[in-house]
Amino acid sequence: MELSLNSQNFLSKIATNDGHGENSPYFDGWKAYDSNPFHPINNPDGVIQMGLAENQAVANFMGRVRGHKATFDPDHIVMSGGATGAAETISFCLADPGDGFLVPSPYYPAFDRDIRWRTGTKLVPIICESSNNFILTLSALETAYNRAQEEGIKVKGLLINNPSNPLGTTLDRKTLTTIVQFTNEKNIHLVCDEIYAATVFSQPDFVSISEILEEEVNCNKNLVHILYSLSKDMGLPGFRVGIIYSYNKQVVSCARKMSSFGLVSTQTQHLIASMLSDNDFVERFIEESARRLATRHNVITNGLSQVGIGSLKSNAGLFLWMDLRRLMKESTEEAEMNLWRAIINEVKLNVSPGSAFHCSEPGWFRVCFANMDDETVGVALKRIRAFVLQNIEVEVPIKKHRWSNNLRLSFSSLKCEDATMTPPHSPLPHSPLVRAV
Ligand SMILES: Cc1ncc(COP(=O)(O)O)c(C=O)c1O
Repeated sequence: MELSLNSQNFLSKIATNDGHGENSPYFDGWKAYDSNPFHPINNPDGVIQMGLAENQAVANFMGRVRGHKATFDPDHIVMSGGATGAAETISFCLADPGDGFLVPSPYYPAFDRDIRWRTGTKLVPIICESSNNFILTLSALETAYNRAQEEGIKVKGLLINNPSNPLGTTLDRKTLTTIVQFTNEKNIHLVCDEIYAATVFSQPDFVSISEILEEEVNCNKNLVHILYSLSKDMGLPGFRVGIIYSYNKQVVSCARKMSSFGLVSTQTQHLIASMLSDNDFVERFIEESARRLATRHNVITNGLSQVGIGSLKSNAGLFLWMDLRRLMKESTEEAEMNLWRAIINEVKLNVSPGSAFHCSEPGWFRVCFANMDDETVGVALKRIRAFVLQNIEVEVPIKKHRWSNNLRLSFSSLKCEDATMTPPHSPLPHSPLVRAV
């Protein structure tokens, strides 16, 4: 469905003004190439371009990562400096300062920087709750949309991150369909950050928004934009290869102009094109990576559950959404920060508190489990288990009445070796939380 986007005020003022200066002769050479590209056999008299982006390999890779259930047109790809640059570019293209994007919370903290900071746009959290496993519901969507309107924010789009950082969960087909219908009905953009697409390590399988678009024939594809990168799926954050895949030609054109500020070098593009074209390598890499993530996820969840620490059931990503609500005397952000300080300063584990992800409920922490070797995981688990056990063994008999409502650990489930996790010479001090009780 093609729409006259300008007239409907779909894109930002930057996207629709002529400040880029593309009417200068400097850019005419590029346009000449675009309309008449050289090919040694098919078009030997065409214009020769140096340093062309290797978009075809990237398009094929995007299809592979999504189980070949959707196809990607290289002409709709714009490269940028990581997903970070991709997100900012899309925000610049779609919204003016003061306009807003709805985003389900908890959400990736750097969206505040990438989507909002330099563009002057706003993020409006859609509150998702633990009672519902943080699932995105239509009613939560409607509530956030209405709230934004009441606050005078013009909602330009909905931003989702699937699989989710920090939750490690994937959106199911039904939710994605609801999202597409909602954004179509409201006539707002849908921006899908799918940077963790290939990190799905167990059922259910990943469903990309691109699959839904191929099924939902009546939806307006012009409203949909995918953010992607090789930082997570190929473990190449230092390469700064980010991708905007927009179904909207006007957005592609604007993002391409803006990409001057965050180009991926031609050398890097060439390198990744040859790497991604090696199908056997890509296939083995993705399979092996998912297998290792599944193993690591099991080690961490089992290790934590042995001391009564649970986490949100997850099937993707590089992290776990750990539930430490039981370790807090009260459900406040202050209590969460106290617990976080104890963990970082004394247990010496760098986990991130839920408040950093705009989580509406205190007591959730993101644990990244993929950035260390097996031995270090063992040390980290030992420390956190010791921390929990210390709180029980030392303090519960004395202050049982205080903890009993909050720390519902099953003592009978603790095995002997867990008790020995806290060696007599443990470097771990007692929790300041306990002292504060
Ligand atoms: C959800 C999400 N989007 C985007 C990014 C940024 O990725 P990049 O390194 O490609 O800029 C990250 C990195 O952690 C992320 O988790």
